[in-house]
Amino acid sequence: MSIAKKQYKRITVKSLVEMKANNEKIAMLTAYDYTMAKIVDHAGIDIILVGDSASNVMAGHETTLPITLDQMIYHAQSVVRAIERCLVVVDLPFGTYQGNSKKALSSAIKIMKETGGHAVKLEGGEEISKSISRILTAGIPVMGHLGLTPQSIYKFGTYTVRAKEEEEAGKLIEDAKLLEKLGCFALVLEKVPAKLAAKIAKTISIPVIGIGAGAEVDGQVLVMHDMLGMTHEFNPRFLRRYLNLYDEMTGAFKNYIKDVKSVDFPNEKEQY
Ligand code: KIV
Repeated sequence: MSIAKKQYKRITVKSLVEMKANNEKIAMLTAYDYTMAKIVDHAGIDIILVGDSASNVMAGHETTLPITLDQMIYHAQSVVRAIERCLVVVDLPFGTYQGNSKKALSSAIKIMKETGGHAVKLEGGEEISKSISRILTAGIPVMGHLGLTPQSIYKFGTYTVRAKEEEEAGKLIEDAKLLEKLGCFALVLEKVPAKLAAKIAKTISIPVIGIGAGAEVDGQVLVMHDMLGMTHEFNPRFLRRYLNLYDEMTGAFKNYIKDVKSVDFPNEKEQY
């Protein structure tokens, strides 16, 4: 059974709005390198997010804060070289857009010029509205990100579910409406109650892409390394693992080591 309602040769920000209008869910995954991006694009993903989660899964940092603009650009360049169909969204890293809209614009322009990516993503609502507006004046599409915003981890102190209380939920709804009004083409909602996420997805016309935000939103995003089971110390309730690559890869590496040590590899057919 085909679930896609319309075949898109290339996904654009317009296709995504159309998909929401047609009730077609949007599938988004992170990727940070050429080989993985090629596979996920050929599989038919709608959006690749070059997430600042690269700071965690690629570089081994505890948070997303240390990754730099140049490091994000390196990852995004590798991804863009691989893709033929999907939309590529690149995270603006911590410290490159908050509190200074001119700096935000120059960070976004650097990403667009040097990577060939199609859009940028920023974390936050009202407090970064000037940065979002200025980036949009340059014709750069902006994806918003509300709810759990990992770049503000030290403000909240934990990675628990956001907006469970009425006051925070109210601010979240207002921020989502503001991002739509400013001109964002889509919004990521991370780790918020499913009912609240559903209400926001119904209230605003731009696609809402959830991670830990339930099924009644317009699409889903996961971190590739988590859904492939390459990471195994991270086990939030929202994560569905489609493979257990940590164990499978460990088995393959062990077999290789055994074969080298026992001189089983290479055999006669594997040499010149
Ligand atoms: O950086 C990232 O991977 C993200 C997703 C979790 C949405 O922002």
